[in-house]
Amino acid sequence: MPSLDGKKILVGVSGGIAAYKIPILIRLLIKEGAEVQVVQTPYSQNFVTPLTLSTVSQKPVYSEFFEQNTGDWHSHIELARNCDLMVIAPATANTLSKLAYGQADNLLLAVYMATPAPVMIVPAMDVDMYNHPATQNNIKILSDRQNHIVLEAEEGELASGLTGKGRMPEPETILQEIISFFQKKNTLKGKTFVVTAGPTYEKIDPVRFIGNFSSGKMGFAIAEELASRGAKVHLVSGPVSIPYPNHPAITVHKVVSALEMHDAVKKLFPESDGAIFAAAVADFRPVSTANNKIKRENKTSFEIKLEKNPDIAAEMGKIKKDNQITVGFALETDEGLQNASKKLVSKNLDFIVLNSLKDKGSGFGTDTNKITIIDKGNKKTVFELKHKRKVAEDIVNHLVSLLK
Ligand code: PMT
Repeated sequence: MPSLDGKKILVGVSGGIAAYKIPILIRLLIKEGAEVQVVQTPYSQNFVTPLTLSTVSQKPVYSEFFEQNTGDWHSHIELARNCDLMVIAPATANTLSKLAYGQADNLLLAVYMATPAPVMIVPAMDVDMYNHPATQNNIKILSDRQNHIVLEAEEGELASGLTGKGRMPEPETILQEIISFFQKKNTLKGKTFVVTAGPTYEKIDPVRFIGNFSSGKMGFAIAEELASRGAKVHLVSGPVSIPYPNHPAITVHKVVSALEMHDAVKKLFPESDGAIFAAAVADFRPVSTANNKIKRENKTSFEIKLEKNPDIAAEMGKIKKDNQITVGFALETDEGLQNASKKLVSKNLDFIVLNSLKDKGSGFGTDTNKITIIDKGNKKTVFELKHKRKVAEDIVNHLVSLLK
């Protein structure tokens, strides 16, 4: 069976010289069994005609909201909702900027704004435009966006006669990226994972608690990444103020305290293929919770006696079967590598993700994180600071590489 059998691909063409290669890409996609719908910007018609594109795609090509002669309306919503992947190639500096900032002054941009489908963006332009901080910033914004893949431009001779980075990858390379995207989507089909996220709150009295600064962003990104690859996810989340993921394959279990998180994970873990412990669980809880608000009057100080909470990751590490994987996090402030390596062993994890509050932009509440993955054999893989969504991709890639 061709590798893209029945896949609906919306190709958006913007106005750069590399547009002349798009008919070849369309041919390759169709050969692999895809159904291709083309939308092009009016300016791109200078580089590749609608006639060429409609001939190779075997469908009408849309470029305007209205048909000039008949006044027929091309619904950008319908186009946007009727595809499995939108590929924008070539994406010029101008189009990249509009995609990044949500402008919708042509049909291609409006379709992009309206599509719930994943989007692959293929930048192509002259070397100085590509290297310009504005373009690089727009590429970063788009790469960090959920369900977006931005391909890197290639080095080489450019239409301007200059040499450098900015060339659109060849149609064969883009095709391979599209095929791998769809293959990756199903890598975790049939698997179920438990993900813990957010903080836990340990009640002192009806109005106060012991908690921490975890926002849930890291754990939620992991849950979303697992689901996007076909897995079923049980997301056990402490109290957070960010929206819960809205994905049909993710079931959210809301908990407050470490004991509640422990109970939920204990029930869900045995039926799962593994767990990723991204929550910042309170290690201790008050021995007792006051029934009424503790008053300040007549006190200069008071003590709260604490007792140890169960170590959820360590407990699951003890009962896990050969075919289950457990992944932990280590949030450190000092001696990160040593502490993380110890936790890897004591919690019987398959690997641990070290993040340190010493690294700017990492840890609690930030959109970004800088991680080091430490394997059982103590092999360390260091990653650069990136958006938590991309960090989640690195973690799930690592998990997939360990699955039997
Ligand atoms: O939520 P964000 O704002 O995005 O922040 C993300 C994060 C910094 C919270 C996350 O990346 C992270 O590091 N989570 C783990 C924080 C933590 O509690 O680390 P730890 O080193 O204390 O714990 C080690 C591991 O054991 C963790 O996987 C933790 O979930 C687990 N654990 C710890 C204690 C406990 N009682 N039960 C546990 O399961």
